[in-house]
Amino acid sequence: MGYSKFDFGEDFQWGVSTAAYQIEGAHNIHGKGVSIWDKFVQNSSKIKDGSHADVGCNFYEHFEKDLDIIRELHIPNYRFSIAWSRILPNGIGEVNQKGIDFYNRLIDGCLERNITPWVTLYHWDLPQALEDQGGWTNREILNWFEEFTTLCARSFGDRVVNWMILNEPMVFTGAGYFLGYHAPGRKGMSNFLSAMHHATLCQSLGARILRNELEDAKIGTTFSCSHIDPMTNDEKDVAAANRFDALLNRLFIEPALGLGYPLDDLPIAKRVEKYMMPHDESRMHFDFDFIGVQNYTREVVKSNWMIPYMKGQIVNADERNVPLTTMNWEVYPKSIYNVLKKFDAYEGVKELIVTENGVAFPETVVEGRIKDLDRVQFIQQYLHQVLKAQREGVNVTGYFLWTLLDNFEWAEGYTQRFGLIHTDFDTQERIIKDSGHWYKRFLQSAKVRNLVV
Ligand code: GAL
Repeated sequence: MGYSKFDFGEDFQWGVSTAAYQIEGAHNIHGKGVSIWDKFVQNSSKIKDGSHADVGCNFYEHFEKDLDIIRELHIPNYRFSIAWSRILPNGIGEVNQKGIDFYNRLIDGCLERNITPWVTLYHWDLPQALEDQGGWTNREILNWFEEFTTLCARSFGDRVVNWMILNEPMVFTGAGYFLGYHAPGRKGMSNFLSAMHHATLCQSLGARILRNELEDAKIGTTFSCSHIDPMTNDEKDVAAANRFDALLNRLFIEPALGLGYPLDDLPIAKRVEKYMMPHDESRMHFDFDFIGVQNYTREVVKSNWMIPYMKGQIVNADERNVPLTTMNWEVYPKSIYNVLKKFDAYEGVKELIVTENGVAFPETVVEGRIKDLDRVQFIQQYLHQVLKAQREGVNVTGYFLWTLLDNFEWAEGYTQRFGLIHTDFDTQERIIKDSGHWYKRFLQSAKVRNLVV
């Protein structure tokens, strides 16, 4: 079967996503403060190729040219994040005007090119000065986040309509405060549960602040979501898969919807009660205009009583004889359909937007060209599933590709290329990949039809 962009509806929002730390570089110029990622990468054993993003894609200096490429590709929406420590070097207190100026130029640069900006407030780069006081584990973060959000609303809210509060709270609290493989590299259940609870509170607090400051803002927040299957139909595997589903897919959205934490299906999270104050249950609730769904793969789970807390484990994709990406993630297009259906089924979810979906495959530059047909096929297959969900009544209203250009992929360093644009990290040269040209044709004309392979 084939489809064109018009099958998704006239008003469907097509876009591309990035995050500040992964692309901006300029880590210590024009008054920027140190973030937890600036510090974390100094220990090169934490990053697969020992790299860092001090320079990254140097988007800070190249952004005008990169916006020109977005325009050239006919991408109408651009999602990016604000580096907290660029505008508030110490997290709170003194404002760095040069940082504010940068985001003003970026927003104005979008608008001049007829590109709609979509701003994520927090995409994982907490100011180190706040981490030094406990970071997300310290309830004071509610006050710090209020100051940051208010500053963003008052500085940029006259031109930015579309906002997302947090990027994937499960990942930054899980990988950053429980497993320790993302910044700030902390571990353990009490760090995780306190960070999780404070992130949940900030998710709704930030939204309430924007709502009060900016009457017409469209306010969402984003979640990492993966469809989860049990390894077998054995009841132990099924129960383990349910626990992982509660952890990975339900833990942050349900409190936002006023349902509280899914404690019945995730008994370990009951210890969160230690961090809860009177009225927190209602504070966690906010009536979001949209929910950002970020999907890449599915997970398969089996029971394992040796694993603390979860009594189960994710079975790595490379042990399952399935198609793989270079992240060692399974290519499983139906996952995006399943998560859209799942989230749409919640009463209180008004609108879903796919705020990230994309892929890293092996690729080489041959005579100045990157023939990434496998990426095109991946996107087509996932989009086909988005369309299927929409046709079945799911209110999915947008799709943002991850990502504009190859960049610093967190603990994977520069080993993973997710971009529509190839970045040469030595010269900062950009080459539009075949997938970028394909996206342009798809967005440009009703006549280009996708053939789903
Ligand atoms: C998401 C994250 C992005 C990007 C992407 C690809 O979890 O929000 O920053 O890294 O995964 O791995």
